[in-house]
Amino acid sequence: METTTAKKILFISFSLSGQTSNLVARMANGLEATGVEVTIERLRPLKPLRFPFGSIRATVFMMLLTFFRKRVPIAPLSDKCRQRYDLMILAGPTWSYHPSGPVLSLLDRDDTGLFAGATVIPLISCRGYWRMHWFGLRALLRKKGAVVVNRIIFTHPSREPWRTLGVFLKLAGHCPEKSKFLGRYYPRYGHEKRQLEEAVRFGVLLGETLTAGRDLAALDFQTSLAVSRGRG
Ligand SMILES: Cc1cc2nc3c(=O)[nH]c(=O)nc-3n(C[C@H](O)[C@H](O)[C@H](O)COP(=O)(O)O)c2cc1C
Repeated sequence: METTTAKKILFISFSLSGQTSNLVARMANGLEATGVEVTIERLRPLKPLRFPFGSIRATVFMMLLTFFRKRVPIAPLSDKCRQRYDLMILAGPTWSYHPSGPVLSLLDRDDTGLFAGATVIPLISCRGYWRMHWFGLRALLRKKGAVVVNRIIFTHPSREPWRTLGVFLKLAGHCPEKSKFLGRYYPRYGHEKRQLEEAVRFGVLLGETLTAGRDLAALDFQTSLAVSRGRG
């Protein structure tokens, strides 16, 4: 009788405003539907971060700090991260063209061999500017011995310049989507429902490919729904 053991995936994830968490939850649903075992580890800043930042001044200050890749110290990872997984997904937002502070802290501290020899796919949630983040993150992961086989990027779907203005105001504590004028061009902060459905589809695709032992690098996650060119 043929026995198959379920493939195991570990998500290591950080999310400040819930966008990455939503994508991770949906992808996990898709993966579990294919019989893959999913474990989610959330990075916990030692000092909880405030969202929104509360003022324009605080937001500009945070953007400046994050541009210089300020680390955000995190609590130790749980024991579940010590097991071996068939795939790890390192998920988090872009902060000023870089990985977020908690993810940078994780990569600084990884002297325990978490990534050594691990197959990793980064999952990036961002407003729209992810390339520098991706190249930097891939280089850091490779330095830790990870095999980075693909990438999953989700950008916010609103058009520019409203997307940038909207995210900035949202981070500062305003509600641009509720403004009579801005709301016409910026209906929501973050990812839309169709993108979350796309994340479920990506989960299914990944689960089926992993289970069948096919090449994860051959999967195309760069769909027009995930990486929008700025639809209205
Ligand atoms: C401090 C800070 C800096 C940011 N810088 C960028 C950036 O350079 N490029 C970008 O596309 N999005 C940027 N964003 C937007 C986030 O990447 C985006 O809102 C993401 O969906 C948030 O994910 P989260 O809710 O999981 O934290 C920034 C957000 C913050 C808080």
